[in-house]
Amino acid sequence: MEVMLVVGARPQIVKSAPIVREAARDDEVEFLVVHTGQHYDFEMSRIFFDELDLPDPVVDLGVGSGSHAWQTGEMMIGVERTIEELKPDVVLVPGDTNSTLAGALAAVKLHVSVAHVEAGARSYDMRMPEEVNRRLTDHCSGLLFASTENCRHNLLKEGISEEQVCLSGDTMYDALLRHLPKAAESDVLTGFGLAEGEYAVLTVHRPENVDDPETLSDIIEAVIQLRELPIVFPVHPRTMERLRVTGLLTKVKEAEHVRLVDPVGYHEMLGLVKNAKMVFTDSGGLQKEAFWLHTLCITLRERTEWVETVKLGANMLVGNSKETIVRKVRECLAVEGLKAKLKGLPNPFGDGNASKKIVEALKEIC
Ligand code: UD1
Repeated sequence: MEVMLVVGARPQIVKSAPIVREAARDDEVEFLVVHTGQHYDFEMSRIFFDELDLPDPVVDLGVGSGSHAWQTGEMMIGVERTIEELKPDVVLVPGDTNSTLAGALAAVKLHVSVAHVEAGARSYDMRMPEEVNRRLTDHCSGLLFASTENCRHNLLKEGISEEQVCLSGDTMYDALLRHLPKAAESDVLTGFGLAEGEYAVLTVHRPENVDDPETLSDIIEAVIQLRELPIVFPVHPRTMERLRVTGLLTKVKEAEHVRLVDPVGYHEMLGLVKNAKMVFTDSGGLQKEAFWLHTLCITLRERTEWVETVKLGANMLVGNSKETIVRKVRECLAVEGLKAKLKGLPNPFGDGNASKKIVEALKEIC
C-alpha cells in the first residue's frame, strides 16, 4: 500500500513523523512524503525533518508564501500532478493548514481516498483560516482520525458516519513521548539565560493577532508590562515582519525581561515549555504540548479547538486585549503549586499509540 503524505508547515512535520516511523516497521506500507513548500526557512521546516527523523520528501513543490487563494491553488496544482505521477492508494493529510486543505481537495477530486489526521477539532470560529481548512478537509475525507472523544463527537454531529471515524488519539503526544529525553538533553535554558520554573514562553503568529497593528500592539504592550518574570519569545517570521512594519520591534527590544529569539527547533521548544512557569500562545499545538508537560497555558484567543484543555483547567482563554492578558496572568502567577495540580489531570489525547492505530486503520481500508 502506498500512502502519499502531504506536509508543508512546521506543525505538520511533528504530527506526521510518528506515523511514518510506525509505517517504516511494516513491510505492507510505504510512505511517500510530499512537501508543498509552504514553509521553507531552515528553522520552519528542515530542522524539524532532521530532529524528528522524517525521511526527505520525494517531491518538494516549493510553493512558498502568498495569499490564501494563490498558495492553496498552487499547492493543489502541484499535488494533483504528483498524485497522477505517484498513483498512491491514499493521500494522508495532517492538521489544519493550507497544505492540508490543498492535499485533500486535489485528492478527492481525483477520486483518491483522503485520510485526515487530527480530524474533528473545532473552534467554531470561521474567521480563522484553520477552522475553514479543518471543516472542508474533514468533509473531503473517507477516513478521519480523531485525537479525542470530543473531536469524534463533533464529526458525528456534522453527519459523518461512525464507520469513517477512528478515535486514534493524538500523534503529537506520540512524538512528545519519544522526544522528551532529547529535549531534556538540550541546554536551551542555559543558552537563553533562564532558570527552571522562573520564566514564561510566548509565541504568537495567528493572523487575527498579528496582522492588525492595534491587536499586535495590545499583546506586545501586555508582555512589556508583565515584568514579573523573564519572557522568552521565539518569533515566527510572519510576526517578525509585522513587528518591523509597525515599529513595535524597537519597543519590545527595549524591554529587558523579554528575550526575542529566532524560531527554535522541536527539542528546544519542548525543553522551554516543560521548564516554564507558564506559556502564552495562540498556537494550537502548543496548547496541547503545554498540557502534556504540565505547564499552565494562557491562550491569546477567544476560542480554541482544544476545549478539553480548557475544561480541565489547564488552559485559560484570555483573548488579546492588554488589560485582560495582564490581569489574568497576574492572577495565575499568584497561584501556588500549579505544576503539581496539572500533573494529576487525565489525558484525553490517548495513550501515545495514535500512530500505531492510524497505520493499522490505513491498512484496513486498502
Ligand atoms: C501556517 C498555518 C498555521 C500554522 C502555522 C505554523 C495556514 C493557513 N496557516 O501559518 O495554521 O499554525 O503555519 O507555523 O496554513 N514565512 C517565512 N518563512 C517560512 C514560512 C513563512 O518567512 O518558512 C513568512 C512569510 O512572510 C509568509 C508568512 O510567514 O508570508 C506566513 O506564512 P504562511 O505559510 O502563509 O502561514 P503561517 O502564518 O506560517
